[in-house]
Amino acid sequence: MQCMKAIALKPQTKDLGIIERDEPSITAPDEIKIRVLRVGICGTDREEAAGGRAMAPIGRDDLVIGHEMFGKVVETGRDVTRVKPGDFAVFTVRRGCGKCLPCAMNRPDMCRTGDYRERGIWGLDGYQTEYVVDREQYIVRVPGAIQDTGVLMEPLSVAEKAIDEAVRLQSARLPDACATPAWLFGKRCLVAGLGPIGLLAALALRLRGAEVYGLDIVDPGTARPKWIEAIGGSYVDGRNVGPGKADSAVGQMDMIFEAAGIAVLDFNLLDALAYNGVYVLTGIPGGDRPLQIQGAELMRRLVLFNQVMAGSVNAAHGHFQMAVNDLLQASITWGDHVEKLITHRHRTGEFKEVLAGHSPDEIKAVIEWT
Ligand code: BGC
Repeated sequence: MQCMKAIALKPQTKDLGIIERDEPSITAPDEIKIRVLRVGICGTDREEAAGGRAMAPIGRDDLVIGHEMFGKVVETGRDVTRVKPGDFAVFTVRRGCGKCLPCAMNRPDMCRTGDYRERGIWGLDGYQTEYVVDREQYIVRVPGAIQDTGVLMEPLSVAEKAIDEAVRLQSARLPDACATPAWLFGKRCLVAGLGPIGLLAALALRLRGAEVYGLDIVDPGTARPKWIEAIGGSYVDGRNVGPGKADSAVGQMDMIFEAAGIAVLDFNLLDALAYNGVYVLTGIPGGDRPLQIQGAELMRRLVLFNQVMAGSVNAAHGHFQMAVNDLLQASITWGDHVEKLITHRHRTGEFKEVLAGHSPDEIKAVIEWT
């Protein structure tokens, strides 16, 4: 059996290195083998590398990391119809528990038992390696026209799911949203935290005609504010928004998309949520930062203003498909602007410094496997 290189860590330690794994091969008719081309790095990878949340596959003490993959199909099992060798593609991240109905319906992102696994994060080897094999139900073909931004598929799918959930919640409860399929058109949306997920959410919201405000705490002249302005959004410098002042700073928002993972900031923004507004959270804060909130005021607002707060994690196959459509649409609308989200490209051997932290001008860093 051939060996291949992979980046692996011993969960709950900072022991991270290049290891050798057996190169996987196709063993079932519905399997697909992909040559990994590049893999994105996100906060979750950095948390894993710092000794945080991660789990090795059963029977091993190390985990191959990486979940934001992009690659090229090299071989397919005889029953596979969705892709052929030479196609660009990505595999989704989460695998079902095998016990609950959402997982049985290929919606492990809504697993009810919590016994799901996630490639590169929780109990299954990930994609920071040369070759991966998985089943056809987890593959998403990426058209060649968006090969340069294909590595953004996974973070975009997370944003797509959260937006989709928010819109579905609104159409289930608001007469105007239920009557208008394009409910987001002209709606005021605040995106809190302009990391890759926040910026990609801004992109998806702009494509649906929303008025987008992006809040962060960086200088207005830097890459993230400039990027959001170039797609027709506005930058809000959070350093000028004092506690309890979000409303006067940005006005009332129909939707707030949270991607900062900073509880103290995120609860503070609730007073900018309009009547009937929806607030969707995607950030996963690391560590415990104690927070005091005005509980009574919060409850009063949620009730008297008919507001919804919802958490959203991971993404289903359909959300990856939405990501394909939006990346295609975005490349028609804004040309190579989307590609500028990938600010740092590293060789495989540079994994330690990439995972240790990032420079202020980084938006998305990727590791190249070719
Ligand atoms: C990933 C998701 C995953 C979540 C929780 C995020 O970084 O993008 O796919 O479900 O972490 O592990």
